Amino acid sequence: MFTNEIVIDMGYSQTVIAMRGKGVIFKEPSVVAIAHQGRKVKFYASGLEAKRYMRTRDKDPLAVLVHPVRGGVIEDYDAAILMLKDFLRRALPKRGLFSPRPEVIATIACGTSVVERKNYENLLAEVGLKSPILMETPIAVSSTLSSDYNLIATFGASISDVAIVGPTGIITGCSVTMCGNAVDEKICAYVAENYRLGISMAKAEGLRVKIGSFSAEQMMSSDIQGKNLVDERPYQVEITSEEIAPMMTSVLSSFATVIESVSMMCPEKYIPDVYNAGITFCGGFAAGDGVAEFLYNRLKIRVLIPSNPDETIAIGALKFFDDRDRMYKML
Ligand SMILES: Nc1ncnc2c1ncn2[C@@H]1O[C@H](COP(=O)(O)OP(=O)(O)OP(=O)(O)O)[C@@H](O)[C@H]1O
Ligand SMILES: [Mg+2]
Repeated sequence: MFTNEIVIDMGYSQTVIAMRGKGVIFKEPSVVAIAHQGRKVKFYASGLEAKRYMRTRDKDPLAVLVHPVRGGVIEDYDAAILMLKDFLRRALPKRGLFSPRPEVIATIACGTSVVERKNYENLLAEVGLKSPILMETPIAVSSTLSSDYNLIATFGASISDVAIVGPTGIITGCSVTMCGNAVDEKICAYVAENYRLGISMAKAEGLRVKIGSFSAEQMMSSDIQGKNLVDERPYQVEITSEEIAPMMTSVLSSFATVIESVSMMCPEKYIPDVYNAGITFCGGFAAGDGVAEFLYNRLKIRVLIPSNPDETIAIGALKFFDDRDRMYKML
């Protein structure tokens, strides 16, 4: 059965759409293939289809692949509208003339400014989603947990949040840019400096997901193709997990420092509860090998990673529809 209550978690890397009673109904890369034609923007495809389109031989030579959202901010408004419209068309059942309007929760980073909130609301209105509720990601995650006070960290592709959440909302928290992209930038710089090889951020991400690990036992290697930065010729080199581990640990270690700072701002009376509950760590990056052990060794507090951590935010936000009164108070 389809309901009209949905959640949208639109990040840099992927967009997750979930529906009450069904769970995740759509998950695709947050990209759109478009071409700028004077003042007009021509749409070709969104998500996986956009990636496929960009690899076709007869694609429009002016077509570019755009990530409309980065760091919790809508960077390309027109592209975001085209992307979200197409995602909704593909994800939701066809609506009749008298179908009720979808009720929408859109998740946002906890440091989102008032201007950015307004921007996001306008964007949702333009794709036909009026009066959305914006929910900070740590609140969404907290609703999946049984304890009253929780330390929540979400680590995404372009923005990460750390917050202590209680029954009436966020007690203290912030958004930071230590994230998957920060590691990928370091990988690009490393291979350029050490091998004179130019690779894209997407290639660096692929390499990190394939062989990146926080555990010393998991040693792997992979070939990576790119352009020689000296003579522009294509060539490839072999990179090992050992080489990229320092870049991963440096970013996650800085993030651990942020977790420490946020916990230091926790009012004393909540400390025992928060400590007993441990850290809930989610976002796509949490699926990486050895993340929980690394954070535990660094912070000496239990680290819980839910299954499918890239879906936790959307699944958590869905709980709003089951417990509106309690969750309204948290926003
Ligand atoms: N199995 C995996 N191992 C390691 N990293 C992964 C894995 N799966 C996803 N990631 C990383 O998680 C990040 C994407 O996480 P997520 O889907 O939470 O981000 P997002 O919501 O799209 O981005 P934003 O930070 O803008 O909210 C990417 O950097 C990706 O490389
Ligand atoms: Mg996200």
